Amino acid sequence: MSDFADADASSPDDYAFRRYLTAKTTVDDRALHGPTEARLETELADLSAARDRETPVRVLEVGAGVGTTLPRLLARDRLPGRVHYTLLDREAGNVEHARERLRAWGDRADTPVDRAEPDDPADDLRLSHDDGIVTVRFETADAFRFVADRAVDDPAYDLLLAQAFLDLIDLDDDLPRLLSVVADGGLIYAPITFDGETVFEPTPAGLRDEAVLDLYHATMDAPDRPGSSTTGRELLTALPACGCAILSAGASDWLVYPQGGDRPEAVAEGDDASTDKRSADATADQPPQDATELEQGGDERREEPPVPGVTATEIPEVETQRPPTDESHYHADEAYFCHHIVNTVESAVAEVLAGETSVDPTSADLTREDLRTWAETRHRQIDAGDLLYLAHNLDLLARVRR
Ligand SMILES: C[S@@+](CC[C@H](N)C(=O)[O-])C[C@H]1O[C@@H](n2cnc3c(N)ncnc32)[C@H](O)[C@@H]1O
Repeated sequence: MSDFADADASSPDDYAFRRYLTAKTTVDDRALHGPTEARLETELADLSAARDRETPVRVLEVGAGVGTTLPRLLARDRLPGRVHYTLLDREAGNVEHARERLRAWGDRADTPVDRAEPDDPADDLRLSHDDGIVTVRFETADAFRFVADRAVDDPAYDLLLAQAFLDLIDLDDDLPRLLSVVADGGLIYAPITFDGETVFEPTPAGLRDEAVLDLYHATMDAPDRPGSSTTGRELLTALPACGCAILSAGASDWLVYPQGGDRPEAVAEGDDASTDKRSADATADQPPQDATELEQGGDERREEPPVPGVTATEIPEVETQRPPTDESHYHADEAYFCHHIVNTVESAVAEVLAGETSVDPTSADLTREDLRTWAETRHRQIDAGDLLYLAHNLDLLARVRR
């Protein structure tokens, strides 16, 4: 299946965003903090062991996007035998894409997952594996409406999973609402939470990189927008303030850099680096074979879909997306990922300069021409295989106490 075979031509903006979410999968694969993932696995195994074999561990993933997290957890063998997994996103196209992805992934992954009863009338997907069954429920809903509809005095979930999501919410008001659906002694896992650093290199003399990135981060910190540019570190105090105990935390920085003209080899199944238990430093030099690579048929290039004009779901974008080239100097679809990030930054800062946000456009001495030059330079660097992109994120795992 092409990852975009189900793209809704009437929604080109969502389509581009879904391509971005898919393209970032290999970046996330490398970035995730191994010790925190390993602790998650242990905690889930303990929860599972403490109950009878028929009672599943209940997981709610909010802001699940195109559903890349569950295949990764399965590929890395992080889940216990019996799991009921609710995969929620407010965009119907994302949820539909996630459903197709999981069906295709279950078909393709030789072991331990295969598909059973795909046409369940309740719209569940059951993935059977050696140790048990993962039942997946797909929900198109606003996360806060969904949790409000659940009885606060009957918390339903053992794990709330929110990847690259909590930096979009107001921690004071929204975090307690999300936590209200987690059972006492349950868990919250928040991987890939942005934490305030964006780096593009190299930076030619005269390029207004600092001014652009300062304004970009300022848009995340604007008082009329939920979330902040330093959500990762803020969670280290916000979670305890909600009664949670941090169990593990660590950096999950995105690092994308050119591969020097050679595409990285897929790691053969059974090699140490491809085993399911990752160490923190199993990173970019040899990207591990993972859920994404299985989805993409190993090292083969994905068939490129036509790329429409881009407007991100959360931050409008202004520039037409350039098509990727066959000579991409980056792993998988990561050239597109970088173009999309540059586009996102440019669009957010353009809104500031146009006076369309609450951020003071005069707080940085930046002109529209400076911004255009910045974006054109960064796009050209990607095309030439010269650009390095780094973003600082944190992964957190905490136990919920009420
Ligand atoms: C940055 S993306 C991350 C997607 C996915 N977790 C990942 O890491 O690939 C954020 C996702 O949250 C979803 N989203 C944003 N606000 C939401 C809300 N209030 N309720 C449900 N989903 C939401 C968006 O549709 C988007 O898919």
